[in-house]
Amino acid sequence: MRVAVGADHGGFSLKDEIAQCLRKAGHEPLDLGAHTYDADDDYPDFARAVAQAVAGGQTERGILICGSGVGASVAANKFRGVRAGLCHDTYSAHQGVEHDDMNVLCLGARIIGPAVAVELVLAFVGARFSGEERHARRLKKVLSFE
Ligand code: RB5
Repeated sequence: MRVAVGADHGGFSLKDEIAQCLRKAGHEPLDLGAHTYDADDDYPDFARAVAQAVAGGQTERGILICGSGVGASVAANKFRGVRAGLCHDTYSAHQGVEHDDMNVLCLGARIIGPAVAVELVLAFVGARFSGEERHARRLKKVLSFE
């Protein structure tokens, strides 16, 4: 699976580790920056890059990392076709895909460490939308808000 990955300075420390774990698991990460650490960069710029990659079909999923994961999820959800969720537990990381068709996982590098981040990423990319009638019905209602 192609997965866009982006991080601001708050998430920068986790980005390479996540790209590496995706590669190891047979996925194809697309690194949309930041490419160097810049304490003054802004999370909306990376949220936009990842959201547009997913919304435009360049990648199937996206992963965004900022300090808390909150700003990244707020920003990414402004884009039509993006369903971003901030998950720091593995249940949400897979259930968000299975029930809600979440296509962008947001993480906070100031909240979790690399080992937990890797488990969350693997739970996220390993999950598929169930397509069950009740989930499809709810998703359709969510999409009608766009
Ligand atoms: C950057 O200092 C920090 O505010 C940002 O990474 C993020 O946590 C926003 O939600």
